[in-house]
Amino acid sequence: MSEYSLALIPGDGIGVDVVAAALVPLEAVADKHGFSVRHTSFDWSCARYLETGAMMPDDGLEQLSSHDAVLLGAVGWPAQVPDSVSLHGLLLPIRKGFDQYVNMRPHLLLPGITGPLRKSEFDILVIRENTEGEYSGAGGRVHQGTQNEVAVETAIFTRAAVERILRYGFEQARSRSGRLASVTKSNAQKHTMVFWDDVTDELAAEYPDVTVTRYHIDAIAARFVTHPETLDVVVASNLFGDILSDIGAAIQGGLGFAASANINPDGGFPSMFEPVHGSAPDIAGQGIANPIATIWSVSQMLQHLGEQAAAADLLRALGTVTATPARLTPDCGGTGTTDTVAAQVAAAL
Ligand code: NAD
Ligand code: IPM
Ligand code: MN
Repeated sequence: MSEYSLALIPGDGIGVDVVAAALVPLEAVADKHGFSVRHTSFDWSCARYLETGAMMPDDGLEQLSSHDAVLLGAVGWPAQVPDSVSLHGLLLPIRKGFDQYVNMRPHLLLPGITGPLRKSEFDILVIRENTEGEYSGAGGRVHQGTQNEVAVETAIFTRAAVERILRYGFEQARSRSGRLASVTKSNAQKHTMVFWDDVTDELAAEYPDVTVTRYHIDAIAARFVTHPETLDVVVASNLFGDILSDIGAAIQGGLGFAASANINPDGGFPSMFEPVHGSAPDIAGQGIANPIATIWSVSQMLQHLGEQAAAADLLRALGTVTATPARLTPDCGGTGTTDTVAAQVAAAL
């Protein structure tokens, strides 16, 4: 029997609730499909920062590296710790340190969920560059607090990173509909984004079977809302992929639905799975956070670990629960709680 070792980082706010809830269907699906999951929980969070001055220990990545995968809830408690400290102290260093260069975020309607657009079906896969670009952290502020103050945030795009994420996008497009949307803002950003377009063109020559359409971020943002059915694989830089995946979440029914996989395709480091949403301070501690995004992320994790049948079974079980939205959490108009939804998914397995 295969046994997987899972590192849990529940984090802050509703992250704690949704990770605990997602373990219930995870155990059920593991039992049913004949494998086991051993998990170790790490208390890395804003609470830890307030106690110790660090979001995670110095050897945090080393502690995670022996695990097969990481499941993360959410990081951030801006009332007490600035986001620039908490996110750069925990979530972002894991993505970068483990070279999880693909952030894969699927957006589609689960059974029974109509989403706010109530239009046609759609199935969009956002492939987000996850290690550099606008998130490089390079820059600074000078003359702070004076009228002469200047702040600079440098977006760094390297050929190696642009090429590998675009190639991943082309491969995904090839395995799906053969359509790839490449997102830039090359009409305004004449260095980084024109470079991205150039690399897209170079790779397009290698993938004659893939039809590439270039979109500007503003135009594709509108298209996500007006014509989502015209999109399939969407490849974008770190920041643009971040924004598009919240729009994707919105059209699939809300932030409680959007899953994500931070993948290290080379397999040298563990990959990390997490909902797209954050710690939702406005509903934290109430037991009403929607756990679907996290359970879906667990399905992505099982897929990544090679447990394809279990991954598909878990998504199917999720669909049988969403088919009756009244059973879901209040963000979907239901009367369920985080734990009742998770228990129903486990029961549907
Ligand atoms: P958020 O995603 O936490 O919340 C936005 C809105 O969506 C809120 O009204 C919230 O109640 C709702 N929402 C989110 N997830 C939900 C769920 N599962 N069920 C029901 N409703 C849900 O975004 P924010 O308010 O901008 O950020 C709060 C904190 O989380 C900040 O510190 C932010 O930096 C952090 N954050 C972390 C991550 C992450 O760890 N991956 C992602 C996004 C934001
Ligand atoms: C996400 C989040 C993070 C991001 C933040 C919290 C740094 O919004 O995972 O989508 O921008 O990547
Ligand atoms: Mn985001």
